[in-house]
Amino acid sequence: MLKNDLVLRAARGEKTERIPVWLMRQAGRILPEYRATRSRAKNFIEFVKNPELACEVTIQPVDILGVDAAIIFSDILVIPEAMGLPYQMLEAKGPWFENTIKNKIDIDTLRIANENDLRYVMDAIKLTKQNLNNRVPLIGFAGAPWTIFAYMIEGSGSKTFSKAKQFLYTEPQLSHLLLEKITESTINYLKGQVKSGADMIQLFDSWAGVLAPDQFYEFSLKYMSRICDAIQPLVPVTVFAKDAHYAIEEISKIKCNTIGLDWTIDPSTARKLSNGKVLQGNADPCLLYADEKVILTETKKMLAAFGPLNYIANLGHGLYPDIDKEKVKFFVECIKSYKF
Ligand code: CP3
Repeated sequence: MLKNDLVLRAARGEKTERIPVWLMRQAGRILPEYRATRSRAKNFIEFVKNPELACEVTIQPVDILGVDAAIIFSDILVIPEAMGLPYQMLEAKGPWFENTIKNKIDIDTLRIANENDLRYVMDAIKLTKQNLNNRVPLIGFAGAPWTIFAYMIEGSGSKTFSKAKQFLYTEPQLSHLLLEKITESTINYLKGQVKSGADMIQLFDSWAGVLAPDQFYEFSLKYMSRICDAIQPLVPVTVFAKDAHYAIEEISKIKCNTIGLDWTIDPSTARKLSNGKVLQGNADPCLLYADEKVILTETKKMLAAFGPLNYIANLGHGLYPDIDKEKVKFFVECIKSYKF
């Protein structure tokens, strides 16, 4: 039995004594403690593959920031690697793939990943569950198939993901073939995470915002829906499709419990469009550069607008590395002490 199950109960649509909160990218460079642990690994990938270190930085924000959930420390790019497309994490630049997907042969060469290919994540989840000792729920995650596809084609981050979009327009059938393989791998991976102890799952569609609505429905939402069908009977699932405010009504029709929102949509509009789903979000991370008075006012406004039910407080995207951890703690405290 979890001692603090607020996030989990809110995700199931149950009433909670107060609004629960966790933060995207809460385990990361805003914490000196994270940087200290990270320096014990040779590089980012070795760090991700080390269950003891991953466990340590997963629990740090629970201790330091007082959040109501932990999210397992890993990366969405472990899936391309498990399928046969290795990546590097370049300092100050982000992910980089030596090989990218260009044609049918490349796609045929990829494996469908299973949980054994990602044993280190399973071990990190088991160890974290053990060390968390039921204090808060543990969130597992994966990238949404479209976002993973985008990195596999593009080979790195991009403002436009125009190569990946070019592939959608010029090779729709091959695009579906690749998305199928990613989806199957992701379902195997997430089932493994649940078996290892993840209490709930979040799908990150970080690049949903570069797609036109019809493309999003065909190449992204369809596959997220398949993942929800497979995972939602096991644990609650959150779909976070960044900048896809145009699609909230359609997202609310798939079998997810919670819809993650970025800051570009106001809570009342999201409520109207989301068919009674639990909502999560959506403070602008840049709010945390403001002084405490502004943070308090804006946070109260957000909480009042979402209301006490069917809501998990969070940011609208991950914390930026240069945000002051004291401001983050203050934001968390504002939410935890708020009374309706
Ligand atoms: O949220 C958490 O605290 C859990 C850990 C987590 C990481 N990545 C660790 C990480 C999660 C949930 C992710 C997801 C992820 N990774 C996404 C989806 C969420 C989003 O931000 O939209 C994406 C697109 C990636 C791919 C990725 N990983 C990029 C583009 C980068 C470089 C830019 C950046 O944010 O630093 C990473 C690196 C990464 N993943 C870091 C961390 C803590 C920073 C690495 C470091 O220590 O220097």
